[in-house]
Amino acid sequence: MLNLLIFLLFIIIGISGISYNRPRLPFGAFWNENGTTILNKTLIGSDPLDFFINQNNTIYIPNRSTGQILLFFQGNLIKNVSINVTNSSTIFVNNINAIYLDTFYSIYGGISQITSNLTIYPISRMNICSQCFDLFYNDQNEMIYCSLSERHQIIAKSLVNDWNPLSVVGGTGRPDSTPTTLRRPYGIFIDEANSDLYVADCGNNRVQKFSSGKLTAITKVGNNSINLTINLNCPTAIVLDFDAYLFIVDSDNSRIIGENQNGFHCLIGCNVSTGSASNQLNQPWSLNFDPYGNIFVNDRRNNRIQKFDLDSNTLNCSNMTILPGYDLPGYDLMSQPSMTFASCCTWCLSVVNCKAFTMETLGNRCFLKYAYGSPYSKADNSARY
Ligand SMILES: *[C@@H]1O[C@H](CO)[C@@H](O)[C@H](O)[C@H]1NC(C)=O
Ligand SMILES: *[C@@H]1O[C@H](CO)[C@@H](O)[C@H](O)[C@H]1NC(C)=O
Ligand SMILES: *[C@@H]1O[C@H](CO)[C@@H](O)[C@H](O)[C@H]1NC(C)=O
Ligand SMILES: *[C@@H]1O[C@H](CO)[C@@H](O)[C@H](O)[C@H]1NC(C)=O
Ligand SMILES: *[C@@H]1O[C@H](CO)[C@@H](O)[C@H](O)[C@H]1NC(C)=O
Ligand SMILES: *[C@@H]1O[C@H](CO)[C@@H](O)[C@H](O)[C@H]1NC(C)=O
Ligand SMILES: *[C@@H]1O[C@H](CO)[C@@H](O)[C@H](O)[C@H]1NC(C)=O
Ligand SMILES: *[C@@H]1O[C@H](CO)[C@@H](O)[C@H](O)[C@H]1NC(C)=O
Ligand SMILES: *[C@@H]1O[C@H](CO)[C@@H](O)[C@H](O)[C@H]1NC(C)=O
Ligand SMILES: *[C@@H]1O[C@H](CO)[C@@H](O)[C@H](O)[C@H]1NC(C)=O
Ligand SMILES: *[C@@H]1O[C@H](CO)[C@@H](O)[C@H](O)[C@H]1NC(C)=O
Ligand SMILES: *[C@@H]1O[C@H](CO)[C@@H](O)[C@H](O)[C@H]1NC(C)=O
Repeated sequence: MLNLLIFLLFIIIGISGISYNRPRLPFGAFWNENGTTILNKTLIGSDPLDFFINQNNTIYIPNRSTGQILLFFQGNLIKNVSINVTNSSTIFVNNINAIYLDTFYSIYGGISQITSNLTIYPISRMNICSQCFDLFYNDQNEMIYCSLSERHQIIAKSLVNDWNPLSVVGGTGRPDSTPTTLRRPYGIFIDEANSDLYVADCGNNRVQKFSSGKLTAITKVGNNSINLTINLNCPTAIVLDFDAYLFIVDSDNSRIIGENQNGFHCLIGCNVSTGSASNQLNQPWSLNFDPYGNIFVNDRRNNRIQKFDLDSNTLNCSNMTILPGYDLPGYDLMSQPSMTFASCCTWCLSVVNCKAFTMETLGNRCFLKYAYGSPYSKADNSARY
């Protein structure tokens, strides 16, 4: 029964129609704190800003030095698109493999589309005097969205007809921290289920949500958020999982924040120091899920793409019964913060009278138990004899 439950919990389901990955994550999911380098400077050049992973697990990334778009599958370069667009800041690929990218610093200007026959077309009316720092294509309404960081605005255009006008979907152009304004916004994400727009409002240290068609946002995370969340220091990117939980690049804190049933907590780079070790990041800039729920981070100042594996079934503790996604309330023997599931397990095994333990996701606190009550659903992980 438990095996079946675990099996059901770990099924990853994609959302059809979209080109990117919004995995359905297991309850209480967590990721290995140590990343592996999937792509490095030798392959992708310096100062990578954005990349894209489609549902076939192909990674698209501009080499900003050479002006090529590189396609990787399982770590191997499978294609390079030589289009002579250097310094491109953002890329998005739709479900018919059309590539949208920033071509501000090229003869094309603004943003352009590369069709599957590798012809490049500037997108009409998008030749604005400011660079797009993030692009998002919404398959539901065939709109392309662009984050004009230097103009503190998000704009959108329908791709159905060339003459469709540009519209402002967030920000007034004046840098400020009111519900209608933004300050140096970077990453954007549209929830295709309802066209809600999420904005990484870097300069205001917050993530804003503009409900579809509204120009007044609410603060989901960060400075002055409606619910108590977590402090952000220049968020630069957001992605949503299947259940519309947010995953955020907290760039100036060099860490990744994730949301689950219990709110927001740090997932990666949580030691708050910046660096180049496998458990560290240095000004990460964007993130994406692969189809399996692993997190890929563009670790900008380290010139690398890091992969953090979803740790779904490596929970084990000797002959204890594992309860992923459960708390065992009460009966605390002692506790300690900043543990991992493995170190919490080892500790329990070494303590006489430890009958069970719970690893809290928030703060990574390990609680040893001298007995246990009924387990209940929570985004923590537990084990008991
Ligand atoms: C991460 O790496 C460190 C140092 O190599 C190691 O001590 C730690 O156990 C690793 N953590 C996991 C979850 O593998
Ligand atoms: C970068 O990756 C390539 C291919 O995986 C590898 O051969 C090379 O040694 C790496 N370079 C550095 C500096 O790590
Ligand atoms: C990407 O750019 C770097 C720096 O110019 C270069 O050394 C590297 O060969 C390029 N990568 C590919 C796959 O061409
Ligand atoms: C994904 O791969 C399948 C099978 O190889 C192929 O039919 C499909 O066109 C691919 N989709 C994209 C978006 O590349
Ligand atoms: C990229 O493609 C061009 C032309 O197809 C080729 O000459 C070049 O060697 C390729 N570069 C890499 C790094 O594969
Ligand atoms: C690439 O673009 C630069 C300037 O935009 C130009 O000088 C150069 O000739 C172009 N190279 C190719 C191969 O088109
Ligand atoms: C590259 O882009 C940055 C902004 O992202 C800009 O400041 C710089 O001038 C650009 N360089 C070139 C050579 O276009
Ligand atoms: C490339 O495809 C577009 C439409 O997808 C078409 O309009 C254009 O003529 C094609 N170009 C070439 C060179 O085949
Ligand atoms: C938080 O927001 C308030 C106004 O909403 C602003 O005055 C303040 O500077 C912000 N603080 C930070 C750290 O961003
Ligand atoms: C605040 O938290 C409540 C309860 O979890 C939730 O229903 C609500 O949507 C949250 N509000 C925002 C703005 O995230
Ligand atoms: C956390 O950072 C401190 C100071 O940089 C370092 O001494 C310590 O080893 C780090 N701990 C881990 C688990 O990485
Ligand atoms: C668990 O394993 C230990 C050591 O192998 C053994 O002494 C103990 O009886 C086992 N407990 C259960 C409940 O099977």
